[in-house]
Amino acid sequence: MKILVTGGAGFIGSNFILYMMEKYPDYEIINLDKLTYAGNLENLKSVSGNPKYKFIKGDICDRKAVKEAMSECDAVVHFAAESHVDRSITGPSVFIETNVVGTEILLETALDLGIKRFHHVSTDEVFGTLPLEDKSQKFNEKTPYAPRSPYSASKAASDHLVRAFIETYGIPATISNCTNNYGPLQFPEKIIPLFITNAFEDKNLPIYGQGKAVRDYLFVTDHCKAIDLILHDGKIGETYCIGGDSERNGVEIADTILNSLGKPASLKTFVEDRKGHDMRYAMDYSKIERELGWKPSVNFEEGIKKTIEWYQNNTKWVNHIKSE
Ligand SMILES: NC(=O)c1ccc[n+]([C@@H]2O[C@H](COP(=O)([O-])OP(=O)(O)OC[C@H]3O[C@@H](n4cnc5c(N)ncnc54)[C@H](O)[C@@H]3O)[C@@H](O)[C@H]2O)c1
Repeated sequence: MKILVTGGAGFIGSNFILYMMEKYPDYEIINLDKLTYAGNLENLKSVSGNPKYKFIKGDICDRKAVKEAMSECDAVVHFAAESHVDRSITGPSVFIETNVVGTEILLETALDLGIKRFHHVSTDEVFGTLPLEDKSQKFNEKTPYAPRSPYSASKAASDHLVRAFIETYGIPATISNCTNNYGPLQFPEKIIPLFITNAFEDKNLPIYGQGKAVRDYLFVTDHCKAIDLILHDGKIGETYCIGGDSERNGVEIADTILNSLGKPASLKTFVEDRKGHDMRYAMDYSKIERELGWKPSVNFEEGIKKTIEWYQNNTKWVNHIKSE
């Protein structure tokens, strides 16, 4: 199989490429990435000389580049996006350009070229927010969309476009909506790598508001495994929700990291809350469990240990990212 991966130099995309190249050494992977601040070819240096892997620097909003990269591919796995909520609050327009317009260009090209499988990687944030008080409520595939940040609105729009292409043109696509990922190779603007790398340097860990907002965390390799299953066995036209069974709030994340590193609780610093902050995300992943036999395999304690160790062993990567 020849797969076009968009955004393969980012956090999840690079973990996915490394996972797929190890599991399917016969597959060819084309990585189309614009290399924004979030894309880093260092992530893929272990496969850069592999004849089955090719990197193309290009923008998913550039039709010509997309067509060239996609030609002769059997499948597309679409990760490329602007992905940071805080950046979407201060500058939303690039989110519309990449996440909405870019997805539309990929879909049209995939249709023209007769691509056999198009998998669109999306987020639980499209569903809005859950109450903190009632832990029985979770998102699932039938939850109505209610995005509340420019990031989640742009991802919701991209999901709608994929659905529209399925209904209107019969494009053989699937969608997944996943909860917050963490693990190796994550850019240290997201909470877990930010807190880990700040704690290393005895810098403050900035916690939004009172630190009560809850996210459901999934170790990145489990997300890669879910996408692999959907790509091969998922039902065309379907959406799959992916969750981690690991709900944690900001204070709990900070405490876990500080305790693991033997750092003082005084590094916790409460800062002004994010505008329109969603209070809780949680996912019911029973559909993918039932239909494809997927469930998270790495629990939070194990995953956070592995993640901290990875950042401890890869200070060169961290320093390189922070110096750019
Ligand atoms: N990180 C999470 O917790 C999470 C959870 C669920 C879903 N997702 C989704 O997964 C995908 C990947 O997320 P991530 O955390 O790895 O993001 P990331 O920000 O780490 O990586 C995004 C990648 O896309 C590339 N890119 C950005 N604009 C581009 C463009 N116009 N053309 C080509 N490449 C471009 C960047 O260079 C980067 O390599 C996104 O679609 C995101 O919405 C992320």
